[in-house]
Amino acid sequence: MNLLVLGGAGYIGSHFVKLSIELEHSVIVVDNLLTGHKESLPKQAKFYEGDIRDRDFLNKVFKDNTIDACIHFAASSLVGESMKDPIKYFDNNVNGTIVLLEMMAKYDVKKIVFSSSAATYGSHEKMPITEDYETNPTNPYGETKLFMEKMMKWADKAYDIKYVSLRYFNVAGASSDSSIGEDHFPETHLIPIVLQVPLEKREYITIFGNDYLTFDGTCIRDYIHVEDLVDAHIKALKYLEEGNSSEIFNLGTETGFSNLQIVETSRKVTGHKLPMKIGSRRLGDPDKLVATYKKAEKILGWKPTKNIEDIISSAWSFHKKHPNGYKE
Ligand code: UFG
Repeated sequence: MNLLVLGGAGYIGSHFVKLSIELEHSVIVVDNLLTGHKESLPKQAKFYEGDIRDRDFLNKVFKDNTIDACIHFAASSLVGESMKDPIKYFDNNVNGTIVLLEMMAKYDVKKIVFSSSAATYGSHEKMPITEDYETNPTNPYGETKLFMEKMMKWADKAYDIKYVSLRYFNVAGASSDSSIGEDHFPETHLIPIVLQVPLEKREYITIFGNDYLTFDGTCIRDYIHVEDLVDAHIKALKYLEEGNSSEIFNLGTETGFSNLQIVETSRKVTGHKLPMKIGSRRLGDPDKLVATYKKAEKILGWKPTKNIEDIISSAWSFHKKHPNGYKE
């Protein structure tokens, strides 16, 4: 297929591009490189540097290429930042998606796979979360992702654009050949931050709060390997290719790990003592987020294949090989 990957130079986008090229799809990447890295792209991908909110730019990309489907990763994605600067999130995420859907309607592109988030659900008592749980985001980031899903629902009714929305839980890990991985600045995610200690980039890890309502007091998250995650996108494309209706799926593993368990597993994987301190809570963190993936298994034939040690080991191999990210 001819795939247009928006945000394809980012952490998750680049893993999707790598897999699509391996599967012999023809790939066009659009990225403004604000957080993405051109170095993460294989040379077979055709690259356009630009912002999806720029109508003239995106129009040219659609005009110059034959596109069978869009895979939409382009968004700002930090919960904490979205609380401080919500307008940035509505502008980048919602406006960007408006322009994208406009071009899809104009150029008759009828399929889109969309990066959504567990943040659309907000806080819930009972785990694991199924797709029919109420959506009640507790931060602007989650609100924009939910709004983007809603725009796609109406674009389906009006222009017959079919979408698969994938609600990611905590994505981590790196490619099995350690060629690409997570390189954010500043880094905010737990696993890459923990690994900065054995990399000697920080002296200790601070765990944000140990008074949550969980078995050891620290937050529980459902970690999914980035390679498992991008495989679900390929399956979602196949699902749309087969002429199926628009759907929403959770992508998680149904297993939760506490922040202390992540530190403990990282000690095991790296062989480092990994000194740790307990700090105060981080604003907006829910106690526990765990997904059920049964719907994706039943309908897409997808299930996670990698466990938490695989995730941390692959991230560790990538960071050891690229201690300064893509900069070298
Ligand atoms: N944490 C620490 N110390 C750190 C960094 C993180 O204790 O230095 C803790 C957080 O407080 C949280 C856990 O580690 O309890 C996981 O935090 P992350 O920042 O790694 O991930 P989040 O669960 O906050 O966010 C992830 C994605 C978001 C998505 C969200 C869904 O990064 O994009 O899941 O709720 F929206």
